[in-house]
Amino acid sequence: MAQKTTVIANWKMNPETLALAIILLKNITKHLPRKKTVNIIFAVPAIFLHPLKEKFRTLSFAVQDVSAYDGGAHTGEISAVQAYACGARHAIIGHSEKRASGDTNEIVYEKIKMALSAGLSPIICVGETVRDQSHSYLKTIEAQVVSAFKNISRTKLDKIVIAYEPVWAIGKNATRTATPEESLEMSIFIRRVLSDLYGKRDAEKVQIVYGGSVDEKNGVDFVRSGGVTGLLPGRLSLSYKKFTALIQSL
Ligand code: PGA
Repeated sequence: MAQKTTVIANWKMNPETLALAIILLKNITKHLPRKKTVNIIFAVPAIFLHPLKEKFRTLSFAVQDVSAYDGGAHTGEISAVQAYACGARHAIIGHSEKRASGDTNEIVYEKIKMALSAGLSPIICVGETVRDQSHSYLKTIEAQVVSAFKNISRTKLDKIVIAYEPVWAIGKNATRTATPEESLEMSIFIRRVLSDLYGKRDAEKVQIVYGGSVDEKNGVDFVRSGGVTGLLPGRLSLSYKKFTALIQSL
């Protein structure tokens, strides 16, 4: 099945003000190619979500996390239902920065269930922290994928995106950038894990994207030869020039 290229702009805890967020989106939309061949999702800070959706009605938005609970006494949390009500249609879940601060595979699974039942499409991040000689990182990825899909019905598969994000390639402390070959190897591996769960045909409904130091030059190589149909850039998405250059290149 041909899937449209998807780019998820992960703004993380940026920018500092709503005014700056509006300027960034204005600049991005002004410089995007007229022909919309790329599906762009803006994962903005939740506090800016509603005003941004009001101002940029045709854009697609994601939250960067949802609560594992559906409501009640959970100070500081945002439920999937609230995110949907504020205009999100997607949710990044299990980002390595959330896993590092306590999101286990079990919590990630609870969040995925919450997202799906609220009508949000989950963008599930998986990735190893180190690449060891004995290939135990494959076990890590397998466990993350198997746990994420534990009781997920095959009818939901076309709503789900897996973002393969090797933790060692993320952010300004990245040890190095992954290669398209490494992305290809992992996308084949993830597909195989999904095929074992759902069979080959249904497994193909899940979109796989790559994230970790994506820039305006390497992005196209991942899509061309990295076995993925999209990208999840972080830092790059905060520069309208670099971000729109990436979209142009695709
Ligand atoms: P980066 O972040 O592109 O800045 O490496 C990617 C991510 O963490 O999602």
